[in-house]
Amino acid sequence: MKQIQVELGERSYPVIIGTECLAQALDSLLPKQAKRAAIVTQPNIGITPATSIEQETFHIGDGENAKTLKTIEDLCSEWAQWGLTRTDVVIAIGGGLVTDVAGFASAVYHRGVKVIHAPTTLLGMVDAAIGGKTAVNLEEGKNLVGSFWQPAGVICDVSSLSSLPEREWRCGYGEVAKYHFLGAKDLHKLSLTEQIMGCIQLKAEIVREDERETGRRAILNYGHTLAHALEMEKDFSLAHGEAVAIGIRYAAEIARILGRIDQERVEEHEEILAHYGLSFTLPSSFDWDRIVSFFQRDKKALEGISFVLDGPNGVEVVKIENQEILKEAMEALK
Ligand code: GLY
Repeated sequence: MKQIQVELGERSYPVIIGTECLAQALDSLLPKQAKRAAIVTQPNIGITPATSIEQETFHIGDGENAKTLKTIEDLCSEWAQWGLTRTDVVIAIGGGLVTDVAGFASAVYHRGVKVIHAPTTLLGMVDAAIGGKTAVNLEEGKNLVGSFWQPAGVICDVSSLSSLPEREWRCGYGEVAKYHFLGAKDLHKLSLTEQIMGCIQLKAEIVREDERETGRRAILNYGHTLAHALEMEKDFSLAHGEAVAIGIRYAAEIARILGRIDQERVEEHEEILAHYGLSFTLPSSFDWDRIVSFFQRDKKALEGISFVLDGPNGVEVVKIENQEILKEAMEALK
């Protein structure tokens, strides 16, 4: 087993990476005072490790429709009926949806109960489960209600990826591709475990520097502004990582139009995305005004529209003064 520490003072925690390591790693991470473990997962995940304390499994639904305040309310009610106390522990086993929902419910239940994340998807391991962001969606947009709630630990059991559907791999690689442009560089030449560790290492460093996203952490949203808008369009049926891949290519186009990067760097974006089997073509029809309204509601949009863009100083948040550029870049990707 390998370990990467997310250094956050008293909220520091380990991310354990290994194979067939879930049960062993869980026991090492259980809080000493915990008498009960509420395992939050989905019926199709099929992983229920036996812990050394009393445990009960709580299922949540599949898909973005389950990522709602109603799910949080239901989960908290079920925990209360079972008798989960604030010194007990929640264990989230599943993809980003499960860790986001279980993380947020843990943050608000009894004003905060410890949570351990055991991501079972590549996307969860390299991004969603690390860094303490938890949230659910509103009709008005993705992840609009949530909190920062750092886990007590994260366990990335790489063997849980063995039955990952192809589409889920692409989703994870959308995020892995993102890290390439954030400075992790040639991850595509490494083994899967090394790729996962490379992403976690970089994310841990960014989160340590800016836990609450007052600055640098926003770069982790590279490709996400358009991605979140595309994901809200149910007709497109795009999964997160697929939408991120399109969003990354779109961000490269905006950066090129603004003169921040050259055509060669745009081609590097296309090569990396293609290497991971990711498509970056926009859906053929979309409502531009709707997409822009999503851009305006984006969490980075404190004033006007902002995008995370590549450039001479690396990837950074850039305020977009001229919205015509956004439309021009969109046309280039059609
Ligand atoms: N997924 C972006 C972040 O954790 O900041």
